[in-house]
Amino acid sequence: MDKPGLLPAYVPQAEPPRRGRRPRVWSALFAGLLVCTLLRLSTLWPPLPRRSSHTLQKCRSLNVLPGPPPDFNTRPQSDRFVEGTRPTLIRNATIWTGRNNGLEILTGDILLDKGLIKAVGHVQDSLVRWYGDDLVHINAQGSWVSPGIVDLHSHLGVYSAPALSGASDGNSRHGPVLPWLRSLDALNTRDDAYRLSISGGVTTALVLPGSANAIGGQAFPIKLRPTKERSPSSMLLEPPYGINGSEVDPSLPPRWRHIKQACGENPDRVYSGTRMDTMWAFRQGYEHARQIKEQQDAYCAKAEKGLWDGLGAFPEDLQWEALVDVLRGRVKIQNHCYETVDLEDIVRLSNEFKFPIAAFHHAHETYLVPGTLKKAYGHPPAIALFATNARYKRESYRGSEFAPRILADEGLQVVMKSDHPVLNSRYLLFEAQQAHYYGLPANLALAAVTSTPATVMGEDHRIGYVKEGYDADLVIWDSHPLALGATPKQVWIDGIAQLDNPHAAPPKPDSFQSAPATPDFDKEARDALEYEGLPPLLPEHAEAEVVVFTNVGSVYVKAAGGVRQVFLAKEREGVVVVRNGEVVCQGACDAAASAGKAKLVDLKGGAISPGLTAYGSPLALQEIQGEVSTQDGYALDPLSGELPKVLGGDYSVMQAVDGLQYATRDALIAYRSGVTTGISAPKPLGFLSGLSVAFSTGAAHKLEKGAVVQDVAALHVSVGHGGAIPSVSTQVAALRRLLGSEGKGDLGRWFERVREGKTTLVVTVQNADVMATLIRLKREVEAEMGHSIKLTFAGATEAHLLAKEIGENGVGVLLTPPRPYPGVWEERRVLPGPPLTRDSSVSLLLAHNVTVGIGTHENWAARNIRFDAAWAALESHIELSKSEALSLASVNVEELLGLSVPPALSDLVATTGGDLLDFSSKVVGVISPRRGVVDLL
Ligand SMILES: *[C@@H]1O[C@H](CO)[C@@H](O)[C@H](O)[C@H]1NC(C)=O
Ligand SMILES: *[C@@H]1O[C@H](CO)[C@@H](O)[C@H](O)[C@H]1NC(C)=O
Ligand SMILES: *[C@@H]1O[C@H](CO)[C@@H](O)[C@H](O)[C@H]1NC(C)=O
Repeated sequence: MDKPGLLPAYVPQAEPPRRGRRPRVWSALFAGLLVCTLLRLSTLWPPLPRRSSHTLQKCRSLNVLPGPPPDFNTRPQSDRFVEGTRPTLIRNATIWTGRNNGLEILTGDILLDKGLIKAVGHVQDSLVRWYGDDLVHINAQGSWVSPGIVDLHSHLGVYSAPALSGASDGNSRHGPVLPWLRSLDALNTRDDAYRLSISGGVTTALVLPGSANAIGGQAFPIKLRPTKERSPSSMLLEPPYGINGSEVDPSLPPRWRHIKQACGENPDRVYSGTRMDTMWAFRQGYEHARQIKEQQDAYCAKAEKGLWDGLGAFPEDLQWEALVDVLRGRVKIQNHCYETVDLEDIVRLSNEFKFPIAAFHHAHETYLVPGTLKKAYGHPPAIALFATNARYKRESYRGSEFAPRILADEGLQVVMKSDHPVLNSRYLLFEAQQAHYYGLPANLALAAVTSTPATVMGEDHRIGYVKEGYDADLVIWDSHPLALGATPKQVWIDGIAQLDNPHAAPPKPDSFQSAPATPDFDKEARDALEYEGLPPLLPEHAEAEVVVFTNVGSVYVKAAGGVRQVFLAKEREGVVVVRNGEVVCQGACDAAASAGKAKLVDLKGGAISPGLTAYGSPLALQEIQGEVSTQDGYALDPLSGELPKVLGGDYSVMQAVDGLQYATRDALIAYRSGVTTGISAPKPLGFLSGLSVAFSTGAAHKLEKGAVVQDVAALHVSVGHGGAIPSVSTQVAALRRLLGSEGKGDLGRWFERVREGKTTLVVTVQNADVMATLIRLKREVEAEMGHSIKLTFAGATEAHLLAKEIGENGVGVLLTPPRPYPGVWEERRVLPGPPLTRDSSVSLLLAHNVTVGIGTHENWAARNIRFDAAWAALESHIELSKSEALSLASVNVEELLGLSVPPALSDLVATTGGDLLDFSSKVVGVISPRRGVVDLL
């Protein structure tokens, strides 16, 4: 990022605003209102009857384009100002303003008052004195300040947390075209997620209906803070006219409206059956709206000429008025749309009916067809993306982490969005950070979650920038916002501080105060285009027998239950020599000795670290989450019905090793991100999952050397609440019986091994009460057996509530994922971590000597485990060394899942630009003694 510059000094008004005196602006406003009223009164009088005057006014307002009133940016006070909010002065901040295409960075002060940013720059002492004791002083001590994060695609309040009946309010099932529905009418003010998202710096979100319909309804921007009124409408940002039955002054421009559209698989599946049907539904709806619009225009043309005879009533229809407004250019179309065919369908629709598309959302194939996007009516749409969440359905199969940079290179507006709760919008900034990591320039990456979405929303006159006259929505960060783990120190919305007694994350290294350096991914980005989103991912083995890594900065290896740093370059240059996949020398080796035939790889000061291990998702058991034909399927569950006799009845147990698929894209991407081992259990329908397998994520097939790391890792069951599954007490009864000596068949034999303490029992469990029950059960078995058994809780969102007991009872915990979300009731009691709580689940459990591993619950996320481990360490007040952080995602996971690979046979990962946990490093090689290869990536 650019060096912070100096600001022009803020010059207060010659005379500071005096309290107690009505500002001049108000007098002007009153005078204006009086004139308006008088004018209106005069038009109510003959010659025109009242109805005619009203109609003419309506006609004239029909084509007024939305926007703020002309004098908006001189407003003395925000319409959202809360009386009694104290003015705030933030001193000595490093301010990313959003101006100058996101390149302007200033050092100075920010004054907040009346819900607005009153000054950015040097606030003079005279003004500070004038405010007196009322002014809240904040010394930012040089910290980064950004505008509040803006989420262009959220379902906050319509898909609420925890999900209870009536909390799923985003999709109507009443037809493919429903422009008359409004997300506002479903907005739950009791969603637990508002507070969490604010704690991640999110201040504004556009709440969209779901995507089950071609036209799903109207969307509304909200501010996330709680309001005194406690009502949905008090959360709205600039509601359009007519929203609460009152009409605003029709002589002023209206506010922007939003409509959610969706194309492709979602509406096809729910309603129409085919893309052809969905597009016809669109065209039929728009044709109807077009006819109404033409009738209105013809009507108004006559009315303007005074030809009232036989004119009848103004043609309008409440159901269709929003769609007519689209055709009048007064609605922003937010269009869920992924694939080339669908993108072009919508572009064609926009040209047929002449309306622009504000943004394509999800839009995984947009980077492949920029030409199509540029043909959209009016202007090319902005593109709202996830960073790395892809391949979950056919439409996202060609998604690329390089899409943001490719689209930006095409001059298109890039937005990063959450689709909350699909991604927890608390971490929307992480999407921008990843986009930056994969090549989107820093200025555009930050803009992608602030000024760009504000602009696409039509709200860039008041949010998305740190600018005088803008809404006082700000975040002070504890690092550069693009540094991994950036955490708000404070968040303001409408000038109101949102975090009471925020808990600071532990201090970060100084290097975190600048945007991370990013690796060179130019070739990968070119390949994404060349191979239309499906570049070959299978690694190539180094041909040379000997591979020599030079310029190695540090070496970490697995050793006796942990990870240890065994080399750190100081005086001497680090060299690691590998022969046939085995490290034969590390540290001070003679590179020249084997140089002749050897392949030399310069790590440029990078590192060698242990390969990580992924657990928690069906990695290598499915290619595409939404496509059953690409999956292993579900393990039959004896608790939900008798198992077929051919399986041996209730006493059979499924083994994931038999269902493994190699070379799935998510596994190979994970491999290329340093996750060299996966552990997957059969996907359970209910209670019993089966035996997990440990496998190499980089192997081409199961028969390859070292492709299966361990046929059986652990035995897996799930115990929890919900749905059609039998009660928790029934599940526990089954478990107790199986853990008794009565099990038969395969299942009995495996539970016998659990009783003997030889096999680990992994229970997927979220709820602390269920965990307590399981701890009692463990004690029962141990009392009977006279020795301890190995029990691991996976998922374990609420484990922090029993941290002490879990530690005392020797239970291990796999947090999948490590950063919690209260998605359903049984996991609602999350420990959110800084800035809401001092501890995170990881740090609290570690403090109680619990063995903690971290994992994921969706395949695409396996690639991010290295960042998750680094982030967990950044949040932990118990200081975690690099080695300990690496352990969270490697040896701990393996230990908790019963995997025993001798350290000498464990994979190692080579990185340039830092070690595996750094946000600036890139994986360039994998050393696999087990497979006898070195893969150069
Ligand atoms: C601003 O903060 C930085 C970082 O803490 C500090 O070095 C500098 O002296 C501060 N400047 C002022 C004017 O307080
Ligand atoms: C209705 O909305 C308008 C425009 O936002 C606002 O001025 C008015 O106070 C609202 N009325 C009620 C009853 O909430
Ligand atoms: C954790 O282990 C350490 C070292 O064995 C011990 O000193 C400490 O008391 C333990 N903490 C808890 C909470 O059990």
